[in-house]
Amino acid sequence: MKVAVLGCGAWGTALALVLHQNGHDVTMWSYRADEVEVLCKTHESLRLKGIHLPETMLFSAELDCVDGCGLVVFATPSFAVRQTAKAVAPYLKPGTTVVSVTKGIEANTGCRMTEIIRQEINDSCKVVSLSGPSHAEEVARRIPTGVVAACEDAAAAQLVQDAFMNSVFRVYTNPDIVGVELGAALKNVIALCCGVSDGMGLGDNSKALMMTRGMAEMARLGVALGGKSETFAGLSGMGDLIVTCTSMHSRNRRAGILIGQGKSAQEAMKEVGAVVEGYYAAHSAYILAEKMGVDMPVCRCAYEVLYEGKQVQAVVSELMSRSKKDETAETNWK
Ligand SMILES: NC(=O)c1ccc[n+]([C@@H]2O[C@H](COP(=O)([O-])OP(=O)(O)OC[C@H]3O[C@@H](n4cnc5c(N)ncnc54)[C@H](O)[C@@H]3O)[C@@H](O)[C@H]2O)c1
Repeated sequence: MKVAVLGCGAWGTALALVLHQNGHDVTMWSYRADEVEVLCKTHESLRLKGIHLPETMLFSAELDCVDGCGLVVFATPSFAVRQTAKAVAPYLKPGTTVVSVTKGIEANTGCRMTEIIRQEINDSCKVVSLSGPSHAEEVARRIPTGVVAACEDAAAAQLVQDAFMNSVFRVYTNPDIVGVELGAALKNVIALCCGVSDGMGLGDNSKALMMTRGMAEMARLGVALGGKSETFAGLSGMGDLIVTCTSMHSRNRRAGILIGQGKSAQEAMKEVGAVVEGYYAAHSAYILAEKMGVDMPVCRCAYEVLYEGKQVQAVVSELMSRSKKDETAETNWK
């Protein structure tokens, strides 16, 4: 099958390699002609150091590269998804299966990534979310990994499963696209907070507390927005939360560590040098939680630190001195 991957970042590159290894004809698109020029010349990944891209992989700065593709993968950062979808829409033939691998929630609208894409492209295209605990660096090195392809349309989810699955890349399906996308976006906020905890020199207990109560509030918002609670115990919820909160590959956690050590959010993101989705998702989660009347103390504190300059020490005291709660009553798993 002819496939296009939109975005030449770390994740777009790793997934392009998976698709190429599975025998598909892959073209990677970048919005920057200079990036494409370097890729054509060197076949060396720009974001994954030491990863060589096969000679038969193509690169393009033109969106007409999606012409004739059975599958188009969106792998840009969340802030660029709407503009990319708008720009590619005229070139997508009706019925194309589109995959979003971006993890985020749009800032002003609260839209999930597949909602944005659906709003901008032809109605007849099926839009699937592919998500899970998957560092690009490890996928590119063929380290065994498992993800989930989510879509209400089972045939579309299975098409994506078939396209990506191989002996080192296991793909499950799930009809709960709401839960899968919200798990993917919100865990980045919790990972950033776990990084802050590590950066401040707090302990394993603090991080486990943050992860567990973070998961509880992720599920609360997810269920309020129509997701299923069990999805949050799956690959795109618990799975991705574990990998992102504990790994040095996670730029969200790395940004959090720097903030915990006293850097500002802007300084931390500059130092990380790649997209820190948790920063944007903290804003979106705060707005959505307010709108839905859902209690999300960890995400609210992340918002206050990242956008209002609140001190991290004050946030720890605030979180620890909240009123007494019943663990399961408050969690509201349905
Ligand atoms: N890196 C991972 O391991 C990983 C794993 C799973 C999901 N993701 C998700 O994939 C998405 C992309 O992450 P990444 O790691 O590839 O990021 P990256 O920082 O490595 O690369 C981002 C890419 O987006 C492109 N880009 C930037 N601005 C753009 C614009 N305005 N229009 C079009 N393209 C633009 C850049 O050229 C770059 O190629 C994020 O939502 C991330 O959460 C990443």
